[in-house]
Amino acid sequence: MADSAIVFGSINLDLVARTPRLPRAGETLLGHSFSTIPGGKGANQAVAIARLGISTTMVGRVGGDQFGQQLLSSLQAEKVHIEDVLIDNSASSGVAMIAVDDRSENHIIVIAGANGNVNDDDIERLIPHLTPGSLLLLQLEIPLAVIRLAAQAAKTAGAMVILDPAPARSDIPSDLYPLIDIITPNIVEVEQLVGFPVESPSLTSEAASVLQQRGVKTVLIKLGENGGFCATPEEAFFFPVFRVEAIDTVAAGDAFNGGLAAALAEGYSIREAVTWGAAAGALSATKSGAQSSLPDRQTLMEFLEQRLGGEA
Ligand code: RIB
Repeated sequence: MADSAIVFGSINLDLVARTPRLPRAGETLLGHSFSTIPGGKGANQAVAIARLGISTTMVGRVGGDQFGQQLLSSLQAEKVHIEDVLIDNSASSGVAMIAVDDRSENHIIVIAGANGNVNDDDIERLIPHLTPGSLLLLQLEIPLAVIRLAAQAAKTAGAMVILDPAPARSDIPSDLYPLIDIITPNIVEVEQLVGFPVESPSLTSEAASVLQQRGVKTVLIKLGENGGFCATPEEAFFFPVFRVEAIDTVAAGDAFNGGLAAALAEGYSIREAVTWGAAAGALSATKSGAQSSLPDRQTLMEFLEQRLGGEA
């Protein structure tokens, strides 16, 4: 059982417009509302885990601007340890410009800012947190070279590595795969990784096999409304989605990873952890925004009890 989780990744401020529909190229559209909400795939996953009661440390960078101060205060308010988040005065904070329409479809443009400066120096601040059995969560919003170093450091320390390969890209170096214990792509991301369309259950299972042949231990493919697929070295299974009234799926994937990691940190099996992930993802989709949508422990437990009863 792990006693802590460490997230090495991005911290963004999300600039969110709610709009009746997503604009076409060249079109100006009148939206419904605007809000600024703490986000970034790394920070979202850190907050998701901390809200579920696990001691969580964030390592990364914010810019030397007002957004940076705002992002640090909000992580601190969520009880995420931020001592090793660097204020990078040479950069602005990461931002994401997000449009969400009435059908809950979204567009996201990320400007990396300080996240793009994360380098070997940040690995020095990460290493002391990596202990045998701890969980390291990675995503792809900081430079790929430093993600590889982080995964290597985690392996050396005996920590478990969970990689969310988001945003989607196809150029993950081959020597990163064997360092990953669990990879959690969605459908778009897995297609980028394997290079073929994943349009059926058999192709989903084939995609997972390809990633396992590259060296990943467990492949967990998030299939949105169709639930997901999990292949470990011992077993492979599809799992269902929890049906909810979705209003905004921004950070639903981060919520999934947070639920998954929190359950693993508590010593639950991969099947139970997948259920926690699916529940956290579903709950997040019922609320607006990134960190504003992440469930706390009581909400997650009540939801599992309500949906699964004695099976939870
Ligand atoms: O996964 C959702 C996140 O993606 C948003 O919070 C945004 O900041 C981008 O990083």
